[in-house]
Amino acid sequence: MSRVIQVEHPLILHKLAFIRSKNTGAKDFRELVEEVSMLMAYEVTRDLATEEVEIETPICKTKCKMLSGKKIAIVPILRAGLGMVDGMLKLIPAAKIGHIGLYRDEETLQPVEYFCKLPQDIAERDVMVVDPMLATGGSAADALTLLKKKGAKNLRLVCLISSPEGIKLVQETHPDVDIYVAGIDERLNEKGYIIPGLGDAGDRLYGTK
Ligand code: PRP
Ligand code: URA
Repeated sequence: MSRVIQVEHPLILHKLAFIRSKNTGAKDFRELVEEVSMLMAYEVTRDLATEEVEIETPICKTKCKMLSGKKIAIVPILRAGLGMVDGMLKLIPAAKIGHIGLYRDEETLQPVEYFCKLPQDIAERDVMVVDPMLATGGSAADALTLLKKKGAKNLRLVCLISSPEGIKLVQETHPDVDIYVAGIDERLNEKGYIIPGLGDAGDRLYGTK
C-alpha cells in the first residue's frame, strides 16, 4: 500500500490558508501555489539517494555528500499542475518536465486526455506527478496509468489539497505510488468539488472564471 505523507509545515499551512481564501486574487494565488510547491519539493525529495564525493575547500580536501545522479522528471497535469512546476524547479533545477493534458468532463467527472509529451528517458527517471487538486482521483489515477504505459516506474504524486475519496482511489489503483499532500479535506460535494477546498484551481490560477 502506498504511503500518504501529509506535509504540515507551519509555512505551508499559513500559505495554504491564503490559497483557500476566496479573497485571494489570481496573482497572489499563483505566487502562493509556487511557494508551497517549492516547500513541498523539499519534503518530496527527502529520500533521494546521495553518494560520497571528494571536494577541495580553500583549506583542505574533504568528503561530502551529493545527489547520486538519479534523474528526476516533474510531470504536471494540465492545466492546474503547471502552477506547481516553477516552485519545484527552484529546488530541482535539473529536472526535466513532461506534460499530461487531462480535463474532467463536467457531467461525468471522468478525465479526458488531450495531450501527452514526456522526456524520452522517462523510464529512467524518478517521476513527480504534480496537480494542486486530488478530488475524485480520476485525473491523477489516469495520469499515473498513462505514465506507466510509457515506461515510468518510480512515481510519486504531489498535490496541495486532496479529498479522502481521491486518496483512496489512487491507493487502490496505484498502490506503488506514494502521495504527498499538504491538506486532506473533508469530502467531495455532489459536483465533485473538494469541501472546503479552494474552488477550481485552474480557473483561480489563470483567471478564467
Ligand atoms: C482539476 C484539477 C485536477 C482535477 C482533479 O482539473 O487540476 O486535474 O480537476 O479532479 P479529479 O480528481 O476529480 O479528477 P480540471 O479538470 O478542472 O482541468 P483544468 O486544470 O484544465 O482546469
Ligand atoms: N478540481 C478543482 O480544481 N477543484 C476541486 O475542488 C475539484 C476538482
